[in-house]
Amino acid sequence: MRIILYTGKGGVGKTTIAAATGIKLAELGYKTIVISLDAAHSLRDAFDSEEKLVRGSTEKQTQINDNLWIQEINIQEAIVEYWDDVYNYIRSLLNRSGLENLVAEEIAVFPGMEEICALLYINQYVRENAYDVIILDCAPTGESLRFVSIPTTLEWYMNHIFKLERSLAKIAGPVIERVSSVPIPRDNYFQNIQDLFDKLEGIDSVLTDAKITTVRLVTNPEKIVIKETQRAFMYFCLYGLCIDAVIINRIFPEEVEAEYFEFWKQTQQHYIKAANNYFSDVPIWRVNLFADEIVGEPGLRQLADALYADINPASQFSDESPYQFQKTEGAYQLSMRLPFLSKEEIELVKHGDELIVTIGGFKQHVALPRSLSNKKTTGAKLTKEGLVITFEAEARG
Ligand SMILES: Nc1ncnc2c1ncn2[C@@H]1O[C@H](COP(=O)(O)OP(=O)(O)OP(=O)(O)O)[C@@H](O)[C@H]1O
Ligand SMILES: [Mg+2]
Repeated sequence: MRIILYTGKGGVGKTTIAAATGIKLAELGYKTIVISLDAAHSLRDAFDSEEKLVRGSTEKQTQINDNLWIQEINIQEAIVEYWDDVYNYIRSLLNRSGLENLVAEEIAVFPGMEEICALLYINQYVRENAYDVIILDCAPTGESLRFVSIPTTLEWYMNHIFKLERSLAKIAGPVIERVSSVPIPRDNYFQNIQDLFDKLEGIDSVLTDAKITTVRLVTNPEKIVIKETQRAFMYFCLYGLCIDAVIINRIFPEEVEAEYFEFWKQTQQHYIKAANNYFSDVPIWRVNLFADEIVGEPGLRQLADALYADINPASQFSDESPYQFQKTEGAYQLSMRLPFLSKEEIELVKHGDELIVTIGGFKQHVALPRSLSNKKTTGAKLTKEGLVITFEAEARG
């Protein structure tokens, strides 16, 4: 079983490449689903599959051929499917404030809701072993990062806040309700969250297991796009995901000779060279700009051939986890692959058995092995590859 995320800046070609990869994998005999996580879906359009509700299609999924399905996650549907009681509680809260008739559309805007719904489907498919390969056509980088950070955030919430809230509501709820008009959630609300969490259990390790999940960053040979790709590279590493390829899309082909594009071609060559240099740890695949937009299966197949040739996209092109714990001379070291990071933007706090790493607006709770929970950090060093944190040595004797 493989999960492959295609992500990158808006408009770089994520959906088209994810769809083309689906076609290639299906041809190679893998049972494949391409799932769109972007609320502004365009996956169905990429396949031009409006009228093509084939045999095995259901309300959620469209079957493209014997081995290929696509799914655009419908968050309202997912909320109703998975989250009845939470939905009812939120609705009852909102209704009391005079905002009647609020429905799933409004609840969908609660932060993280979309990502949780997507994770629920993915974990369900993983548990049922329903597909050989799950391809995720991600939203632009920022939202994709929120998606991959949700499992750890949720786990943190469940461990630190949820239990407390649940017992408080049980004990103090009836009293509060007598003196205020705010409804206190019944225990089935909490049970529902617990059930939901149980359904998500394990997704965290699936996403950070480099043998299962890898990320492919799609980029274009332009300054701002390459810059964002560098940031994305670092942030995905921060959340423990393995990046196993970078795809440079929309390269002007050699045969374009019009003078108008000469400058463009030079600029692109400059940034292709830069990208080869920045991302030299992983394979870099290139795709030319086609003569027309790529819509429908024949175009997607052509793109897949240009992109992969003899490469099997289900393979792993790196299986290096971004976090490595090593023991050298009695002392532990945590190496975090965080390229392109500068000293000024990182903040580190060790709190019991976790290391809290903050870079820019992104925070990650890194769970430390038990043997390190009572050890102090003795240093942190920033290298070209990333961050190396050392912990105090074992007590001797
Ligand atoms: N190599 C290419 N040659 C020609 N057209 C391309 C190429 N790659 C992508 N396109 C076209 O560019 C447009 C945008 O591509 P796509 O929707 O895949 O980008 P995206 O990264 O998914 O965008 P968004 O961030 O909006 O989800 C589409 O019309 C697609 O057909
Ligand atoms: Mg897209």
